[in-house]
Amino acid sequence: MFELRDIRHDYDGSEVLRVAAWRATQGEQWLMLGPSGSGKTTLLHILAGILRPSAGSAMVAGEDLAAMPAAKLDRFRGAHIGIVLQRLHLVDSLSVMDNLLLAQWLAGAAQDRARAREVLAGLDLADKADARPHELSFGQAQRVAVARAVVNRPRLLLADEPTSNLDDVRCAQVLELLQAQAAACGATLVIATHDQRVKSRVPNQYLLEAAA
Ligand SMILES: Nc1ncnc2c1ncn2[C@@H]1O[C@H](COP(=O)(O)OP(=O)(O)OP(=O)(O)O)[C@@H](O)[C@H]1O
Ligand SMILES: [Mg+2]
Repeated sequence: MFELRDIRHDYDGSEVLRVAAWRATQGEQWLMLGPSGSGKTTLLHILAGILRPSAGSAMVAGEDLAAMPAAKLDRFRGAHIGIVLQRLHLVDSLSVMDNLLLAQWLAGAAQDRARAREVLAGLDLADKADARPHELSFGQAQRVAVARAVVNRPRLLLADEPTSNLDDVRCAQVLELLQAQAAACGATLVIATHDQRVKSRVPNQYLLEAAA
């Protein structure tokens, strides 16, 4: 589903990340583990096509992200990749429903309110469609971010530290939610985290070493 080869990333000339090879097949669920500063967020952004690596190739769903023009990459990301970032980046001037419709629009997809409603219902948010993000609890807002990430039925679902600020019960719930939503779309799931609690709960693990 994706294949990374000889990836390297530098910020201002200093190397923060090196990945010799990592491949995942469609529907697999992965944890990306590593200490703080080891490059997890950087690598997640590379997988999402938000950041171009300094060197190496990142193939996602048969496409070489590095070779894709920016406008095509934006559409490709919207259509095939769902992302839940640590800061949720919900649009606060829009309702929950409109945040989901915006994600469809950005992907170049037709507006599909029925699909948006179905996803919200599946995440126990049916009664929050008209709420603004700031009117929600953190857990609800996080579920809206998950809803937005899966509304276009992505092939790749990425989450950055989705559990690090949560108590044990919430941690397990969010993990199960991401796993269930990925399974429902047949998406490959990658969760970047340093949260040791989730370690035994996801079948595949990729470990990033601390930067030299
Ligand atoms: N935009 C940037 N400019 C310069 N350096 C950066 C930038 N983003 C990250 N870095 C550096 O790159 C390294 C890897 O950062 P990254 O955020 O990918 O790590 P991480 O594994 O996600 O850490 P954490 O577990 O704390 O979230 C760090 O040393 C960080 O300081
Ligand atoms: Mg990080």
